[in-house]
Amino acid sequence: KNLDNGQVSWQSPSNIALVKYWGKYGEQLPKNASISFTLSNCNTKTSLRFKKKSTSESFTFQVFLDGKREESFEPKIQKFFERIEAYIPFLKAYQFTIETSNSFPHSSGIASSASGMSALALCLVSMEQQMSASENTKEYYSQKASFLARLGSGSACRSIEGDLIVWGKHPDIEGSSNLFGVKYPYTVHANFKNYQDTILLVDKGEKQVSSTVGHDLMHNHPFAEQRFEQANNNLSQLLPILESGDLSAFIKIVESEALSLHAMMMTSMPYFILMKPNTLEIINRIWEYRAKTKSNICFTLDAGANVHVLYPETEKETVALFIEKELSSFCKNGEFISDVAGFGAISI
Ligand code: PMV
Repeated sequence: KNLDNGQVSWQSPSNIALVKYWGKYGEQLPKNASISFTLSNCNTKTSLRFKKKSTSESFTFQVFLDGKREESFEPKIQKFFERIEAYIPFLKAYQFTIETSNSFPHSSGIASSASGMSALALCLVSMEQQMSASENTKEYYSQKASFLARLGSGSACRSIEGDLIVWGKHPDIEGSSNLFGVKYPYTVHANFKNYQDTILLVDKGEKQVSSTVGHDLMHNHPFAEQRFEQANNNLSQLLPILESGDLSAFIKIVESEALSLHAMMMTSMPYFILMKPNTLEIINRIWEYRAKTKSNICFTLDAGANVHVLYPETEKETVALFIEKELSSFCKNGEFISDVAGFGAISI
């Protein structure tokens, strides 16, 4: 079907990795497998308006963030379009208006690339679906969206569905692929249902190290090979833990992954310390709290200073008090975002 114009819209969440992706090769392919919880409240809403144009030599698009033209996003979208053109052949035939807004503050230090790129990928796939004469399955489209999102930002391929997603070929995970994320295919214990993630905003500034630079630092990194092996082993070890619900074993892997990710940045050339004093304060308070109580609270980190506090749903009330009373004092302006594992993007 030939579409002259139209509009598609998606809301897509961010995700938080338990086993981290850090290091890539080729067309945005991961050096090791990773697994993440898809989030809910931290998300991006994107509308894609399209109109057929008469010439088709180049990509034509404009990006608006919260209703305002955002030219600084355009090089990234340009690059994304170049990468995916082979898979979305009609890209140059349309003029696009991309309108996007995030549920979290733009300068919160929360990366919007996973939610933003997955939302845009889903919009393009919906457009393809409208044009297609053949009826493809829902699975086909969500796999294609994940495949395209990966080309925008690697970790974005884990934001299409939920609540646990694996990206990267791994011998223990049936159906896993370097090309797209897949739903974790095995039994998961009730302890991990509606897992909570409170994101403590320690540093709201611009990222010191973009993830592109970060992934590049893994080339010629003295510990790269051991790191990729460690991540794959950690994922193997998580399988029986996810099944049995062993929270203390879960915590050990998740926290070690976070610190290993940061250790890679500290031991690269050039080297970076992305944690701030308050990041370490919070980590120490979490450890103290765990020693004092029977809590199964733990932390993880992305490539920045903010701390993700992870805990089972049963601890929701008690941990909320602990965060409000103690941890929030280490956040910029006392700010944090309460989130929970969710089931992926929705068409809006
Ligand atoms: O998707 P990217 O290229 O921004 O990489 C993000 C990598 C981490 O967030 C640090 C870890 C992960 O697996 O999400």
